[in-house]
Amino acid sequence: MGRQRVLSGVQPTGNLHLGNYLGAIRNWVEAQSEYENYLFIADLHAITVPHDPKTLAANTYTLAALYLACGLDLSHSTIFVQSHVSAHCELTWLLNCVTPLNWLEDMIQFKEKAVKQGENVGVGLLDYPVLMAADILLYQADKVPVGEDQKQHLELTRDIVNRFNHLFAKKGKSVLKLPDPLIRKQGARVMSLTDGTKKMSKSDPSELSRINLLDSADEISKKIKRCKTDPIRGLTFDDAERPECHNLLMLYMLLSGKSKEEVVIECQDMGWGQFKPLLAETTITALKPIQEKYQQIMVDKGYLESVLRDGREKAGAIAQQTLSKVKAAMGYSMPL
Ligand code: TYM
Repeated sequence: MGRQRVLSGVQPTGNLHLGNYLGAIRNWVEAQSEYENYLFIADLHAITVPHDPKTLAANTYTLAALYLACGLDLSHSTIFVQSHVSAHCELTWLLNCVTPLNWLEDMIQFKEKAVKQGENVGVGLLDYPVLMAADILLYQADKVPVGEDQKQHLELTRDIVNRFNHLFAKKGKSVLKLPDPLIRKQGARVMSLTDGTKKMSKSDPSELSRINLLDSADEISKKIKRCKTDPIRGLTFDDAERPECHNLLMLYMLLSGKSKEEVVIECQDMGWGQFKPLLAETTITALKPIQEKYQQIMVDKGYLESVLRDGREKAGAIAQQTLSKVKAAMGYSMPL
């Protein structure tokens, strides 16, 4: 039996932050040799809220370079751009026609993002999870490693698979494969530096709320120095009254590579004045190799283009096979 298939993606909207890294990309990298991985840049999802055409392509390249800089290895992982494989849009249409509208209206992310758009909410924002389902199902993925905030979208994907197979698969056989979410306990929900009850997000208007993977050492120090804390001495995990404290200790644990027990012992008697410089130094040290590799990759645009061209070819071939299977199951005639 071949290796199981993993699929996941990130939107090229602004800078990648520690939430994207610890909740998603780092986990892809750590497990990549166990799986056959398809990892893409979700540039079609990136236009579901107003976007700037002048920066879309550049952000796409930046993200592809960051994937490589974070350690994705092309011998295990195929990296491609979503819009380069047109089957993503085609399957979305076919799945749209079997997805009840009220399933989409119930999505938490849609409701949250729609409020921010006021009257200008596009149909694409509502349809975002169906495009996500198409991304996953085209590759018949076994596992989808994501952060906690994507859980509901993955449940919807599973509902779509069951409905599609029920409607169109021959008895006892399935056309689409049920994917499993892969959500790590630690790092799946990195919180904002300015409010420990809100998740770290690219769309937060305050730059101080997040640490980006490409932030300079000075920026990282400044953000950690100014992040929200509490007046209690001694640092503890898992105290619901101290969300900021839990989040910052978790970041320290994940970025230092220490165990929870080690961090508990090391930090239990610390005050913020001692802990903050330690966290800043640890973050700078953890991000430095990624930043250096990123700079090297970005000077050779030809290389990056060749990676994405190969990715498109490999991903496109698999996507096309699934698309043909889906169309046949739905009763379409094949092109002559
Ligand atoms: P995006 O770009 O919003 O997020 C990319 C990944 O980062 C995770 N993430 C977080 N994890 C922990 N803490 C946080 N504060 C945090 N913020 C973001 C997200 O859970 C995600 O794993 N819709 C997807 C992109 C996508 C996709 C797919 C993913 C499109 N098609 C198919 C998997 C499969 C998204 O959330 O992008």
